[in-house]
Order: sequence, then C-alpha cells, then structure tokens
Amino acid sequence: MLHFWLVLFVLLMTLVFWKWTRPRNFPPGPWALPIIGNFLQIDYRNPLPDLEKMCKKFGNVYSIYLGVHAVVIVRGYKAVKEALIGHNAELLDRPFDPIFYAISKNRGFSLARYGKSWKEKRRFGLRMLKNLGMGKISMESTILEESKYLLKSFEDMGGQNFEPKSLLRNAVSNIICRILFGHRFDYNDGTFTKIVDHVGKFSKLIGAFWGEVYNGIPIIRWLPLPHRYIFKTISLINDFMRQIIIEHKNTRKVGEPRDFIDHYTEEIEKRKNENDDSYFDEESLFSVVTELFLAGSDTTANTLEWALLFMMTYPDIQARCYEEIKLTLNGTEELKYEDRHRMPYTLAVIYEVFRFGIVAPLSVPRGTLKNMLFHGYTIPKGTKVLLDLNSVHRDESQWKFPHEFNPHNFLNANEEFVKPDAFMAFSAGSRVCIGEILAHMEIFFFFTSLLKHYEFFWPEKHTKPDLTPSFGITQAPFPFKIGIRHRQV
Ligand code: HEM
Ligand SMILES: *[C@@H]1O[C@H](CO)[C@@H](O)[C@H](O)[C@H]1NC(C)=O
Repeated sequence: MLHFWLVLFVLLMTLVFWKWTRPRNFPPGPWALPIIGNFLQIDYRNPLPDLEKMCKKFGNVYSIYLGVHAVVIVRGYKAVKEALIGHNAELLDRPFDPIFYAISKNRGFSLARYGKSWKEKRRFGLRMLKNLGMGKISMESTILEESKYLLKSFEDMGGQNFEPKSLLRNAVSNIICRILFGHRFDYNDGTFTKIVDHVGKFSKLIGAFWGEVYNGIPIIRWLPLPHRYIFKTISLINDFMRQIIIEHKNTRKVGEPRDFIDHYTEEIEKRKNENDDSYFDEESLFSVVTELFLAGSDTTANTLEWALLFMMTYPDIQARCYEEIKLTLNGTEELKYEDRHRMPYTLAVIYEVFRFGIVAPLSVPRGTLKNMLFHGYTIPKGTKVLLDLNSVHRDESQWKFPHEFNPHNFLNANEEFVKPDAFMAFSAGSRVCIGEILAHMEIFFFFTSLLKHYEFFWPEKHTKPDLTPSFGITQAPFPFKIGIRHRQV
C-alpha cells in the first residue's frame, strides 16, 4: 500500500514540475496548478483587469497557463508594437486551438495556421473585398441603402424605448452578406436573425473562459458545459452556409460572378486547370466564407452598439456631431465618404469609439513560427501569444485621456483630426485585419445616418449607462435600451 502512495506521489510531482514548470528562460508568471493552470486566478467573466494586475507584478511580457498550455501575454504600446512590427515574421502563425479548428478546419485563412494556403487565400480575400466594393463609391450606396432599412426598423418601434442590439446586428451583417452572397436578408427572416443572434452570443465564449477551458483542458471536452453552445452555433452556421453555397451552384453563370462565392468558385476552377496546389477547393470555400461572415459581422455591429451607448452617455458630444453632420450636408441629402475629411470632430468621435469600446480586446491569438527572443526571454516555437490591444488603447504614456471616452484623444489643439500611433483596434503587421476600410465605411454611414435622423437619449431616469464590456473574442456592451427622438431636418 505504501508503495502505491509513494508511486502516485512521485508521479504527481513529476507531472507538476515537468509539465507546469515553465520552459527555460520563458516569460515569468503566476504559479499554476496542474491541469487547470491559472484559470482560478482569473475572473472568468472578464480577464482584462486580472491581466493588468499580473502585469504590475511580472512586467509587460509574462505568461499564464490556460489549462495545460503556457500562453504569453504582451501588454502596453511599446511591447505590443515591438511584437507585431519588430517580430512580424516570427509571429505570423495562429495557435492550434481546437475551437478554431472546429470552426474552419484550418482551411480558411483568418483562423488558419501560417503557410502558403493562408498567404494565397488572404491575398485573394483582400483583392475580392476591394473588387466587391471595399473603399469604393458603390459600397457607399450599398451601406446608405441598408441604413434606410435600419432607420425604417427603428421607426417601426413606434417611439418606444427598445433594445437596438439585434437590429444593429442585422443591418451590419447584411453588408458582409451582400459581398459574400450577393444579397441582403429581411430583418424578419427568422433563419438569418437566428444565425446573427447566435454569432453574437458565441463570440462571448470564444477567446473567453469557456472557450479557453475547452482549448486548454482536454479532459473536460466531453462534458455538457457551456462550450457546447459554441458547437451548436457552428453547426447552425454550417447548415446556413451549405444552403447558400448550394443555391449559388445552381444559379451560377460561368464568367459572370455575382459575389464572393462565385468569384471563389471561378478561382477554384482556374487553379485546378493550372494544377495549383494552394488548396482552393470546395471545402475551403465553405471555411473562407464562414470566417469572413464571422469576422465581418460581430465586430462592426458591436462597434455601432458602443457608438450609440457613448452618444447617450455624452449628449454634448452627440450634439456636436449632429451640428457637424448638418453643416457638412449643407442641405444635401446624403454624406459622401470623402466628406469625413471635412468632419474632424465626428471622425474623432468614431475613432474614439474604436479606441475606447475596443471590440477585439486581445486581438486574435497569434502563434510563434520559430523560437523567438523577446525582451530577453525565449518563447519557443508553437507558443500561443495574446496581444493585449486593450492595454495599448489605455496606455497612459500614449493617450491624453486614456481612461475616459473623449474625442480629444484624436484632436489636436486646433481641433484637427490626428491619429496617434497607439491606435491599434485592427492590430498591425502582416496579419492585420483586412476589413478595416470596410468597417470604417460602415460605421461612418450607419452612425451619421442614425444621428442625422434621431437624437438618442438614455431612457431610464434612475440608472446611468453601464459602460462595462461583456468580454469575448469580440466584446460588446451589455444589452441596453435606447430612447429616440426625431430630429427636425
Ligand atoms: C470593428 C471592426 C473590426 C475590428 C475591430 C477588427 C479587428 C481585427 C483584429 C484585431 C484582427 C486580428 C489581426 C491579427 O491577428 O493581428 C482581425 C483579423 C481579421 N479581420 Fe477584422 N476587424 C473588424 C472588422 C472586420 C471586417 C468588416 C472584416 C471583413 C471582411 C474583417 C476581416 C478580418 C479577417 C479576414 C481577419 C484575419 C486576417 C488574417 O488572419 O490574416 N474584419 N480583425
Ligand atoms: C452650402 O450651399 C450653398 C448653396 O448651395 C453654397 O452657396 C455654399 O457655398 C455651401 N456652403 C458650404 C460650406 O459648402
């Protein structure tokens, strides 16, 4: 019997010190428990404050155990920029995350590992987004048209206070749907609104506690815990995409691509003829489109939601935006995207929404492609690295008003627009977001259209707006109601 306990003890100790002792010269961090790592030392609802506390103790580059995996955290403007720009080539991988794999089987590019397939699909994706309107006049009218539907849906609320979350999500998602599928969905389309709603909810699990528990603690994967919701959503999205892709196949005319799916299909055929081995096939079409749908809807919808919440919190800022919009319109019907250069205040407000409401607070996880020497530490190949963009956007050495919503973070003494170097909502380096321009166009037109027609106010007398974020790979405000009043145009 004694032998048994002795063997067990030795085994356990070996496990603890072998597996949970950091690799040589690895960034330091808090003591971690076997199997569950540091999960108990981090607030599962929102890890950002704890990440900040640990930084005070261990510095801007440190590590934590998410389950059995040691993950490096990089914080603050200087270190994050040095990692993304200075060590660009070493940090271009994504980690092997079982959740990412479940979403797109490494066949897309947003969540895919580094390699030729990623490179070519990313290049193709960016070219197509531009081809299909990103940054162009045609996209302006697309977004303006969608904002009319959004306004109509606000109108249909009949002057009641209401939660705008799902309406904003529908409108924003429709822009990426038009690019990918060539058409929009009606806000009463049950399948569409269900998908959009689920995507919003499952983003709160991915990159957050339950998603990371799933990624980091293999033995609990089969238990009926909240991570199951992620898989339910993935299968819903899969069914939705499969149907759209089949429809496209049935109605496609060769040589007349209507949208992203048709263009990708042509690319598959072209590459097949050229015996190209860069993995453009039916399965990858499915994954690429799913990833773009995910990347392009939730992020931007959350940003618009933050924008309304901030405007209700700061009515003076809202009033100044409205005045500037009216002045710029000067009696004409619609703004043009060009007009933003004549609207420094509104532009600063929009950037401040991107900064302060940062919707991708820890970016999308990166992975090291080879051993990386960083800040005197050695980070081995294949390590997951989290870039804390939230900390960059609140870095006291970089911002005039790091901890408050204040458009003067983007205005100089002459009230001209300036973009500080520490603005990194879309990350940086060769894996930077490819939808930045699209997101900017969407926010500009949706935001100004809404402000032009309505005054937004906080409808409850006894409470104040709650600016606490609901954390996830993308974060949004907690659900809230808006009050709206017509503007006299
Ligand atoms: C508010 C809006 C948005 C924000 C804040 C945002 C932010 C980000 C961030 C932080 C990343 C990670 C980049 C990295 O690993 O360094 C990313 C990646 C990406 N984003 Fe966005 N994004 C937004 C909107 C969009 C839109 C509208 C699209 C549209 C198509 C899009 C497509 C992508 C893609 C494809 C990637 C993966 C790039 C790669 O891995 O090579 N994003 N985004
Ligand atoms: C506003 O419109 C009027 C009449 O079309 C024009 O004369 C004036 O120059 C415009 N003002 C600005 C600031 O563009």
